[in-house]
Amino acid sequence: MQIPCSYRDTRPVRYPEPVHIVLVKSQDGSFNPMSAAWVMFTSIEPTMLAVSIGFERYTYTLLKQQSEFVISIPSEKMLAEVEFFGSNSGREIDKLKELGTLTQPATVIDGLLLSEASANYECRVTGSFRTGDHLIFAGEVLASHIHQQKLPRLYILGPGVFGGIKPEIG
Ligand SMILES: Cc1cc2nc3c(=O)[nH]c(=O)nc-3n(C[C@H](O)[C@H](O)[C@H](O)COP(=O)(O)O)c2cc1C
Repeated sequence: MQIPCSYRDTRPVRYPEPVHIVLVKSQDGSFNPMSAAWVMFTSIEPTMLAVSIGFERYTYTLLKQQSEFVISIPSEKMLAEVEFFGSNSGREIDKLKELGTLTQPATVIDGLLLSEASANYECRVTGSFRTGDHLIFAGEVLASHIHQQKLPRLYILGPGVFGGIKPEIG
């Protein structure tokens, strides 16, 4: 039997929730990483995915200007990155430099891959769609990369749960 509740009341049961990192090039040539839970694959052929970005994010401003981005699936080693990239803005700080996160050049786009991630996808923006206070950017996946040790991905386990982090979304 279902009982009515607010949207927020349902949040604890959504865990574990996958998390990602979106990387977009800034105007100064550096790359800005942002934690993003709201990512999904949307097509097999061509391979496509979508990410939902809030209007106030620096990443939103950058993605309106840029035609390329990387979606990274952080590994279990990358909890510090997910917390930091998801609670600081690239408007004020160079997040990659601050944490000394290992990166390597993308192979097809002008982008950066996160070396310790479970996987990385190089994407080209194909369109966007407004949903309330976020914009969904759709991208075609031009190249995929996996960690050579096939590292397991990080999940948001929820507040109060071991290894979990509290997402600042919604
Ligand atoms: C686990 C986690 C998941 C998040 N998911 C999203 C998301 O899907 N979309 C979004 O717009 N913001 C999301 N955020 C919030 C942004 O990551 C956060 O506001 C960030 O500081 C924005 O950085 P920027 O200003 O450099 O773009 C998430 C934060 C965390 C911690």
